[in-house]
Amino acid sequence: MTPLRIGIVGLGNMGSSHVKDCIASDLLELVAICDLDQSRLDGTETPADTGRYRTASEMMGHEGLEAILIATPHYDHTPIAIEALGRNIHVLCEKPVGVHAKDINKMTAAYESARKSNPDIRFGAMFQQRTHNSWKKIKSIIDSGELGTLVRASWIITTWFRTQFYYDSGGWRATWKGEGGGVLLNQCPHNLDLYQWFFGMPKRIHGVAAIGKYHNIEVEDEVSAIFEHENGMIGHFITSTAESPGTNRLEIVGENGVLVYDNGTVTFDKNATSMIDFSNTADSGFAKVDHEVQPVELPSDDPGAHRMVTEAFARSVREGSPLVAQAPEGLGSVTLANGILMSHFTGSPAEVPLDGDAYEKLLQELIANSTFEKAETKETGPAAMGSSF
Ligand SMILES: NC(=O)c1ccc[n+]([C@@H]2O[C@H](COP(=O)([O-])OP(=O)(O)OC[C@H]3O[C@@H](n4cnc5c(N)ncnc54)[C@H](O)[C@@H]3O)[C@@H](O)[C@H]2O)c1
Repeated sequence: MTPLRIGIVGLGNMGSSHVKDCIASDLLELVAICDLDQSRLDGTETPADTGRYRTASEMMGHEGLEAILIATPHYDHTPIAIEALGRNIHVLCEKPVGVHAKDINKMTAAYESARKSNPDIRFGAMFQQRTHNSWKKIKSIIDSGELGTLVRASWIITTWFRTQFYYDSGGWRATWKGEGGGVLLNQCPHNLDLYQWFFGMPKRIHGVAAIGKYHNIEVEDEVSAIFEHENGMIGHFITSTAESPGTNRLEIVGENGVLVYDNGTVTFDKNATSMIDFSNTADSGFAKVDHEVQPVELPSDDPGAHRMVTEAFARSVREGSPLVAQAPEGLGSVTLANGILMSHFTGSPAEVPLDGDAYEKLLQELIANSTFEKAETKETGPAAMGSSF
């Protein structure tokens, strides 16, 4: 396969990791890099003939460039992706695909418009957690119907511990104007994406958020949410960047048993018979369904990560194979995040599909009313990202 000629926009924590992945891959040829910050451009090691640009627009004119990977702060994903798609350039976009639903709808419209002249144009999203063995296995068990009717899904995901140093490390981070949210927009897009990938979208969202409860920030660092699904399934989502040690436990309860992910281990506590049938036919009030815990075998190696998503994107352009995630699917996780915040600030449940105009208005009010003074930014250069996903 001829390597895909790609350029990377944004050379911070994540972009600099993508640079290394592209250089190491036989399926990708890094032809250009871009950052508004000259020192980031100067400090990024690449092959000698790599184009270096201060703006994404200039980089899009690089001769032979076929695709871009966007790793800037989230608000900029929208204009950069829309411009690239308009110039017939394939786009792979970091999560969250946009800050709010209206931005993602605009990006999706640009993609649909680009497809009219080039049906093969690709618009993918960096949801690398979908490539991990455990989540793929859980998805396949849910899709197989083995759990029967789903009753409840509860996710406690508090392993996103972040220090004040982290929040002070970039002027845009954890501000309404620069980021548009906190833990829901930065760390949880992965979990919220998996949630909607597994269970689909709820019809109603109830959210309670704590704003800067444990960090000196103006956005949420602790969240509890309830998702009501059309079929009666209830979802719980609890997250925080202020618990250590944290928990990563997802319980999925179906009529045929409980599937549990707990810090990397998956088990299936399987009922001998459907609990719904058992409940309806048992001849004593305290009878219990027989059940047995079965470990779920996973391959010992787990190569899933960002590089797998980027290489799948290259193969998709060249060979037409599927992307790990289509960028328009990013609407799901962003709707969940926006809906939780909308419910928190209005004190009422948020209906899905979300009222995008109302949410944008709320966000603009939060930006306009902000009096938060960000602590002096500690510029440390790109951080080692290994333990942050
Ligand atoms: N997939 C993952 O696991 C993962 C992990 C971390 C971050 N991310 C995402 O990657 C994005 C970047 O996060 P980060 O932690 O690397 O941020 P960062 O602050 O470390 O880096 C952002 C870089 O983009 C540059 N930049 C800002 N606006 C730009 C523009 N318009 N054009 C060109 N360059 C611009 C900045 O100068 C900076 O160097 C975010 O959307 C974040 O959510 C994804």
